[in-house]
Amino acid sequence: MSKAHFGLIGLGVMGENLVLNAERNGFSSVVYNRTYSKTEEFLKGRGSGKSITGASDLKEFVDSLERPRRILMMVKAGKATDAVINNISPYLEEGDLLIDGGNSEFRDTERRVLELERKSFGYIGMGVSGGAKGALEGPSMMPGGTKSSYDAIESLLVKMAAQVEDGPCVTYIGPGGSGHFVKTVHNGIEYGIEQILAEAYDLMKRVAGMNGDQIADVMAYWNKTEELCSYLVEITEACLRAKDQNDGTYIVEKIMDKAGQKGTGLWTVVSALELGASVPTIYASLNGRVMSSMKSQRVQAEKILDGPAISHSIDFGSQLNGMPLLMDAVVLATMASYAQGMDLLRIASVEYNYDLKMPAIAQIWKGGCIIRSRLLKHIQFAYEQNPSLSNLLLDSWFSEQVNDRLPGLAKVVACAAKSGLPVPCLSSTLDYLNSYRTARLPQNLVQAMRDCFGSHTYERVDMEGTFHTEWIK
Ligand code: 6PG
Repeated sequence: MSKAHFGLIGLGVMGENLVLNAERNGFSSVVYNRTYSKTEEFLKGRGSGKSITGASDLKEFVDSLERPRRILMMVKAGKATDAVINNISPYLEEGDLLIDGGNSEFRDTERRVLELERKSFGYIGMGVSGGAKGALEGPSMMPGGTKSSYDAIESLLVKMAAQVEDGPCVTYIGPGGSGHFVKTVHNGIEYGIEQILAEAYDLMKRVAGMNGDQIADVMAYWNKTEELCSYLVEITEACLRAKDQNDGTYIVEKIMDKAGQKGTGLWTVVSALELGASVPTIYASLNGRVMSSMKSQRVQAEKILDGPAISHSIDFGSQLNGMPLLMDAVVLATMASYAQGMDLLRIASVEYNYDLKMPAIAQIWKGGCIIRSRLLKHIQFAYEQNPSLSNLLLDSWFSEQVNDRLPGLAKVVACAAKSGLPVPCLSSTLDYLNSYRTARLPQNLVQAMRDCFGSHTYERVDMEGTFHTEWIK
């Protein structure tokens, strides 16, 4: 029997869809799952009538593959991934290649690349974005590891990936854990945009008194604009319109207001803190989820802590024109999420020697992934024009947007503050932009205090050198 081109371990929804994608693109496949009944079920169901076989143990799985073997692991990040690597390693031979397509912590991937390559196996840590549908129809993929390992799977990945006007949504990201690092930051941006849209929904509902369909209409309008056309705005519209089949009311209003998280948003923020990158909009979205989880405390606090009554005096602008004032706020916060994420990538690239290609990252995010949007075309263009751009917001197209829309963002945040409504991403963005465009910040006083109590010294603006003052005589 001829050997299969491609092997998949882990028949969760993502695994199933990725192997169906590979098979559709001409790569005969063999699948393995820890519980064999799941494999049988798949082969009788979605996998039937296709060039896909199943293996009941790892030896049979490895033996069914042509060499060098190309094996994609779609298992839970962390210990489960290490367990699969340990269990399969004895059967692998020189040159075989393992690909981790889960959301692994990038430092785990760094370690695994080193360990596996010491045994002469290839190892690729690959971010895969696009959810279940993307995995089946064409995801965006962010593979990192040694270039020769990438070269061995490039032909497979370019066929499986989403396609946009200038090519497939996959490229070699860089060495070590860079692929998973880029995916982590992708998810940080994802957290930011999700929270921004949730804040906009809350303002439309509670300040403007709009119902789900009216808010969805505004989302539909936004989704036709250059600045906001995106997958996340598109699905927000769908979520807002969906009705409960039992009583015809909006399902969204029945969902418990506690947001979960699996780790990547947290890792983005931790990395940013470690590297000295400023990501306040992304951090605010993470903290938004943390606050949302404190449901019982919030219920109690609402009875004890007072706030102002909601002010309905602000006019966000006509719904037919996409509520331009609110759109200003959402556009700038969305741009800030991307700008902060890209800035983190730029800093990490230097620190970890990843040599990340910013235009290429923007290019592979234009299709297939959760943060795909029209803005990414402008982001790609900005970095193509100036590969060493220190912050996206300094690019002329983006700076014009900031200059046009900052007054709108400020009015929206002021309205929320007046009404006692939380808008963590919008208000963090306003502070971020105001800080970033201020040449002289008040940290001169912070420096004075540090020097006063701890002799930490300070620099001066009027002369070179390091200074200390006896502040209290
Ligand atoms: C993607 C997503 C996906 C991620 C989920 C869950 O790009 O397809 O980022 O990989 O796992 O969105 O993330 P949270 O549970 O942390 O929100």
